[in-house]
Amino acid sequence: HDTIAVPNTNTSIPRLGFGVYQLYGQHCQRAVLAALAAGFRHVDSAQLYRNEAEVGAAVRQSPVRRDDVFLTTKIRAAAGSPEKTYRSALDSVNKLGGAGGYVDLFLVHIPGSSRAAREELWKALEQLHDEGKARAIGVSNFRVQHLEEMKEYARVWPPHVNQLERQLHPWCQQRDLVRFCRDNGIVLQAYSPLSCGEHLGDEALGAVAAKHGKSPAQVLIRYGLQKNWVPLPKSGNPERIKQNADVFDFALDDVDVETLDGLDRGPTGALFPANVR
Ligand code: A2P
Repeated sequence: HDTIAVPNTNTSIPRLGFGVYQLYGQHCQRAVLAALAAGFRHVDSAQLYRNEAEVGAAVRQSPVRRDDVFLTTKIRAAAGSPEKTYRSALDSVNKLGGAGGYVDLFLVHIPGSSRAAREELWKALEQLHDEGKARAIGVSNFRVQHLEEMKEYARVWPPHVNQLERQLHPWCQQRDLVRFCRDNGIVLQAYSPLSCGEHLGDEALGAVAAKHGKSPAQVLIRYGLQKNWVPLPKSGNPERIKQNADVFDFALDDVDVETLDGLDRGPTGALFPANVR
């Protein structure tokens, strides 16, 4: 797959990633192996998902070289002191990247409630970045105000990536935040590009899918790709995993994109407005 260069780093992100939220144990390991076999070269995990070790094990077990896979994790919360927070993050690096290894991208998972915690989390990630253990660092679920606030304490600004709050898909386009990230060179990633399955039966979407001989899910992934949103579709099913990787042999035209753009319902378009993935 094609990649997007991450500004201010030496790394680039494969345009399509595999989401592993709610995949556990053996099931997770098998799904990651299926995703790698299907051509995914980017897996998005988190401390919160409780599957970093399984994702790491699957990558080491697969014939694909570690350096050819882009691995992301997210730190969930400050651990009580800068030292403990750093150790919590380092523990994730070792689980996902293997002992003494690295992750390609480490994110602060949620802004949480206090500036002090955000600062402590970011400093831990900056240290890992300095040490080469996190090739890029970023945030997730941050709004414009959180990104602005970071300027007060961050050595590394802008964050390299913002993985967006709520879903980013035709029904929930978050245009202000998207514009801010674009203007500041922050790469956007979209979790739940399939709207958690909620809108797959949509009539307008179905018509676009029929026109291309593709499934609604493939059209939504393609839409995210064409927007440069780095979609991260999640699936635990080998057939759907394959289907979700098979999105590089067609392109949506301007009329299709306009149709999908027209589905935006603002923040209420998200399935779970307060959802965090
Ligand atoms: P499953 O894991 O059984 O495949 P999102 O990525 O937006 O969070 O959506 C994930 C949901 O969409 C999961 O319930 C997943 O179920 C389902 N899903 C994933 N890929 C497809 C697909 N190609 N077609 C239909 N549903 C899919």
